[in-house]
Amino acid sequence: KGQDASPCQWYQRVYKSLCPLSWPKKKVTCYLLYCVSTAVIGSLQFGYNTGVINAPEQKLRRFFQNVSMERYGEPFSSGANTMVWSFAVAIFSVGGMIGSFSVSAMVDKFGRRKSMLLANVLAIVGAVLMGLSGLSRSFEMVIVGRFVIGVFCGLCTGLTPMYVGEISPTELRGAFGTLHQLGVVIGILVAQVFGLEFLLGSESLWPVLLALTALPAILQTAMLPFCPESPRYLLISLNKEEEARQALVRLRGSEDVSEDLQEMKEEATKMALEKKVTILELFRSRAYRQPLVIAIVLQLSQQLSGINAVAYAGCQTVLAAVDCGLAITEKVSQPGDMESSGVAEPIYATIGAGVVNTVFTVVSLFLVERAGRRTLHLIGLGGMAVCALLMTISLSLVKANPSLSYLAIVAVFGFVASFEMGPGPIPWFIVAELFSQGPRPAAMAVSGFSNWTANFLVGLGFPKLEELCGPYVFIIFMILLIFFFIFTYLRVPETKGRTFDDIAQAFAASAAAAGAGRSPEEGVGLPVPESKASVPMFSL
Ligand code: GLC
Repeated sequence: KGQDASPCQWYQRVYKSLCPLSWPKKKVTCYLLYCVSTAVIGSLQFGYNTGVINAPEQKLRRFFQNVSMERYGEPFSSGANTMVWSFAVAIFSVGGMIGSFSVSAMVDKFGRRKSMLLANVLAIVGAVLMGLSGLSRSFEMVIVGRFVIGVFCGLCTGLTPMYVGEISPTELRGAFGTLHQLGVVIGILVAQVFGLEFLLGSESLWPVLLALTALPAILQTAMLPFCPESPRYLLISLNKEEEARQALVRLRGSEDVSEDLQEMKEEATKMALEKKVTILELFRSRAYRQPLVIAIVLQLSQQLSGINAVAYAGCQTVLAAVDCGLAITEKVSQPGDMESSGVAEPIYATIGAGVVNTVFTVVSLFLVERAGRRTLHLIGLGGMAVCALLMTISLSLVKANPSLSYLAIVAVFGFVASFEMGPGPIPWFIVAELFSQGPRPAAMAVSGFSNWTANFLVGLGFPKLEELCGPYVFIIFMILLIFFFIFTYLRVPETKGRTFDDIAQAFAASAAAAGAGRSPEEGVGLPVPESKASVPMFSL
């Protein structure tokens, strides 16, 4: 009561003016915004720790050398130094794989809110390890700290979208789901800015830069006790109707939550037969096969699009070429100006990409409830494929034609912008939409694990591929993007504005229809309401 008053009016006004058609009847209360904001601190953490390691690379490498000198009386060979460095970078994704895979077991044991709370212990441990590594003269502490933070971030990538998806009103699930990615890109940007040499990216302050992740962890720990447990979890998984009702009343700012409750109860009744679903059962049951394949492929489309390769390594490659192009053109027109232009600083280019990232995630946030997930994902993948082609053409011809360097810049920023329109935010939250309460945690774990594994593999393979293929490396991503585009076009349903139950029933109906005539052992074990059994799953 009164929670939707003045402080929220600006938000409603901006939202309404941008998407007058999709403003939901149900109110967005300040309390709901508070809970969503608390959860997306986890997203911010994932972004921060993804981006934080790039800027201080040289300082860390020097630190490894100094430690080796102090301990063994000689520096690491350049090969050994690169190995320790690569290990410190890659171990983060290994931690992420473990963390994301543990999401299912954790939420089944502790629920959504307590899991987020507990995960912060890992953030503090990781921050302390990395923060004290300089004083302790230990590069091992950097590595172990990165691993622990990776596990934490893996948990965040499952817990945040799950909690946000479960507390959001159906009409705004996509917009709120996109806030996870907005948190990620803001986290990356903050890390890049803080990592500037004159801020925390200096020889003496890099441990502080790495340890800063403790602050959001403390903030979230302080805020979470005021958030409710997910009402869907309370009602459907724990059968605590009154608690679920109370949580909903606070979140929706209205005593009348009967519509939400009714929808959850319907799901609970149908769920009584499936209850919690283990990861093994998820793979075994034909009812889940279709959404599972979609969830995994969408997550792969995010990482195998090459976003991290282009936003970091690619950005630098392009910049080197651009710089060379600009240097030639500038020499002809305004000799002498180039040295001070500063474009050549890769960190400023990555910050530029970070800003484009953030702006276009906001664009997606406002479009996702109007255009839908499927359309935005298709637009994003298509745009990225075109930009990958432009990058290849401009980079392979830049020496002969320096003005193509401008095209390369446009292509990189276009690539990043297209990513944030769909492939960035959508895979993270759509998984929660594709599954009902029972299989959701297992599905989040499996798809999150796929995302982190692909992230790890691209990080590992890209430098080698770039060495082998030169600018043609982006063609590989283009081919993959085309494949993901076709898959999305043919297989991904629109989930905008549909209840979890409706989506799950449509998949079950489709699986039942596909399974008709097969042996009963292969059956799906999911009840399919008669009224929907004959309805084709989704119109493609
Ligand atoms: C997504 C990806 C992450 C990437 C980020 C860039 O969240 O999961 O790997 O760094 O987007 O915006």
